[in-house]
Amino acid sequence: MQRRAPSTPETWDEFFSDFYLRAYADDERQVEAQAQALAAARLAGCPAGGDLLDVPCGFGRHSVPLARADYRVVGVDRSESLLAEAQRRVGGAHWPKLVRADYRELPLPDESFDAALNLFSSLGYLGDEQDTRVLGEIRRVLRPDARLVIEIMHRDLLVREVREQDWRLLGEGRLLLEQRTFDPGSGVAQTTQTLVDNAGRRDSRSFSLRVYTATELVAMLGRAGFEEAKCYGDLDGARFATDTRLVIVAKR
Ligand SMILES: C[S@@+](CC[C@H](N)C(=O)[O-])C[C@H]1O[C@@H](n2cnc3c(N)ncnc32)[C@H](O)[C@@H]1O
Repeated sequence: MQRRAPSTPETWDEFFSDFYLRAYADDERQVEAQAQALAAARLAGCPAGGDLLDVPCGFGRHSVPLARADYRVVGVDRSESLLAEAQRRVGGAHWPKLVRADYRELPLPDESFDAALNLFSSLGYLGDEQDTRVLGEIRRVLRPDARLVIEIMHRDLLVREVREQDWRLLGEGRLLLEQRTFDPGSGVAQTTQTLVDNAGRRDSRSFSLRVYTATELVAMLGRAGFEEAKCYGDLDGARFATDTRLVIVAKR
């Protein structure tokens, strides 16, 4: 049997680039991101002014409001262009600190954070073994009893809601088209996103993502050394179900 695998890191780099900024860095999502960030820090039990890791931080939409709320935030990401946009949003502020790194090897000391956040479907890029390694790295930099909050699409919801074709209107008359297929054997979803600008020009990226069930993610957290993992349906602690997103609070 031929099993589908997630895309290579190089393919992800081509997606998490200027293309991703054009598709996702619009103003409309700002207010929502701030509320999500603060709710996630609360759910993680991060103390006021505590050391908070946002990994991966993308273009800083959570790191920046968290730093403004006085958390000592470190944002880590692999993408140079997304970090450049994050730095533009930080301006001259002292926090957050931004670090360019692959999250399989965090250039951060052991036990240096009070909480960690992994938001907006930021696992599944590397496959089961390497994604478990990422969880182990995050655990390593957490202080004893500190918590990691993961917010992610999960397989039950994907299967319920998957639409083979979809589109979203972006600002300035631009469109984002999505075509998807899901392979239930490997749990890998294949997506092609196409940006259409207001002159009708098209630009596409394709990628394959491993979409985990809650059960699989909880088992991976256990293998990575986390002591306890609780599932919720949102960042305010709603009940988890097959038609909610998945939020996991994992205790080191
Ligand atoms: C869907 S985005 C979410 C980013 C951020 N959490 C947010 O909500 O805006 C996923 C991020 O993962 C980053 N990423 C992908 N593979 C990575 C890796 N191997 N190491 C570190 N970051 C990675 C991408 O650059 C991208 O910024």
